[in-house]
Amino acid sequence: MVTAGPTHEYIDPVRFITNKSSGKQGYEIAKSLSKRGFETTLISGPTNLKVDEDINLVKVETAEEMLKATQRNLPADIAVFTAAVADFKINKISNTKIKKKENLNIKLEKNIDILHYVSSHNSMRPKLVIGFAAETDNFDENAVSKLNNKNCDWIIANDVSKENIGFESDFNEVTIYYKDANNKKEKLSYKKKSELSEEIVDRIEDKIN
Ligand code: CTP
Repeated sequence: MVTAGPTHEYIDPVRFITNKSSGKQGYEIAKSLSKRGFETTLISGPTNLKVDEDINLVKVETAEEMLKATQRNLPADIAVFTAAVADFKINKISNTKIKKKENLNIKLEKNIDILHYVSSHNSMRPKLVIGFAAETDNFDENAVSKLNNKNCDWIIANDVSKENIGFESDFNEVTIYYKDANNKKEKLSYKKKSELSEEIVDRIEDKIN
C-alpha cells in the first residue's frame, strides 16, 4: 500500500487549504512495486497523474478520507506513506460559500497522523512501514525524530527547499534512515524519481525476502 499526493481541507464548498505535493514520488514507487509483482494499492490525494490498471487506485480528497481508505485497505505487507497529508483541517466547514463581506476567521484543528495511527496499532501494522519526511532544515535531527516518534521502520527524507528536487520536480535526492540498523543512514544520489523508486524498491525486496 502506498499513500501519495496532497490532501484538500475544505473551508467552504469552493475553497480549501492544500500544499505543493505533486504525488510524483509516490506514484513512481507504486509503479515500481507493481512492476515487480506486488499487488499494489495506491491511495492518492488530488493529482493530475495516471497509473496503469494493474494498480488499485483509490482517489481521496481530505485527510479524513485518506485515513478511512487506508484502514479499508489493510492488512498489507508493506506500507509506504509518501502523502503530504495536511496537518490541520478546518474546525467547522461552512456549508455555504463564505461571502467576502463577512469577516473570515478560520479555526484549525489537527488531523490524525495516518502513518502514526497505522504503525502504532499492532493489529493492523504492516511488516514494513516506511514514512517520508519533507524537510527544509535540521535534516538529520528531524528525520531521526520522525523515525522514532512515528514508530516506522524507515524514514526517507528529502529536502523540499531545493527547487531541483522539490515537490514538482521529476528529480529527487533522498536519505534513508533505518531503525533496525541503529538509525544508519544511506544517501541515494540525485536522479529521476522513477529511478530512485527502483532503488527504494530494491531495498524493500532485500528487506522482506
Ligand atoms: N503523515 C501522515 N498523516 C499526517 C501527517 C503526516 O500519514 N496527518 C505521514 C506522511 O505521509 C509522511 C510522514 O508522516 O510519511 C511525515 O510527514 P511530514 O509532513 O514530513 O511530517 P509531519 O508529521 O507532518 O511533521 P512536520 O509537519 O512537523 O514536519
